[in-house]
Amino acid sequence: MSELNLILIGPPGAGKGTQADRLQDDFRIPFISTGDMLRQNVKDGTELGKRAKQYMDAGGLVPDEVIVAMVADRLHRPDAEDGFILDGFPRTVAQAQALDQQMKAAGRHITAALLVDVPDEEIIKRISGRRVCVKSGHTYHVEFDPPKNDSVCDEDGSRLVQRDDDKPEVVRNRLEVYSEKTAPLIDYYDDQGLMRRVDGTRSPAEVHDHIRAMIATLRMEDDV
Ligand code: AP5
Repeated sequence: MSELNLILIGPPGAGKGTQADRLQDDFRIPFISTGDMLRQNVKDGTELGKRAKQYMDAGGLVPDEVIVAMVADRLHRPDAEDGFILDGFPRTVAQAQALDQQMKAAGRHITAALLVDVPDEEIIKRISGRRVCVKSGHTYHVEFDPPKNDSVCDEDGSRLVQRDDDKPEVVRNRLEVYSEKTAPLIDYYDDQGLMRRVDGTRSPAEVHDHIRAMIATLRMEDDV
């Protein structure tokens, strides 16, 4: 069977991480989130983390060269040989071009870019209610996907917190950065015939079903 090399695109809080988490279980391929990798570096106090933190806290983008090198390194690991789900990368046209070059050099190709589409007013609701586990990073929503016990992770009992960049003033900047820097990727992948759109306003289970059906079709097309 052919490789499944997927990119998830969408505004902050659209539900990319929620879906990637489910898809990695379905397809047994790694879910590579640049946001998660950066947050881990910040937590570990690495040089990369120290450099990235200032951009992340302000809702801006970490410089392309830092991110491109970090992802190239990750995609070379053996678990990504049969495919991957990229969440939060690429986020600029320059990052997309760098990824294309890396894929070409490795004799691989992107299967599809999936746009999880959600309007801004819904984004604000989702982000303001998001809570994450301090230990595992598992994500909840106070209204749409609440934990069984208030403020405690179902999986390991750790504390649930709000992300630093989920404050309203930072979210506004993240949305602006998305429309200026990341939305142009929709045309970029449309021009390559790789863009697929998903209505992200439906429930997590419905969005998941839609993406799975889409991937099944893509795989059939890729194998003929
Ligand atoms: P990153 O972590 O990638 O943030 P993001 O793209 O803004 O995405 P989020 O993680 O906020 O949202 P999501 O779409 O995964 O939504 P989720 O599933 O959690 O990046 C953070 C920062 O790192 C950036 O600002 C930047 O500084 C830096 N960075 C990262 N990558 C970079 C790159 N490539 N280049 C440069 N800088 C980079 O869902 C949100 C909430 O909604 C949750 O509470 C969830 O429970 C709920 N929810 C999900 N789906 C549904 C649904 N269908 N219905 C109702 N509620 C739902």
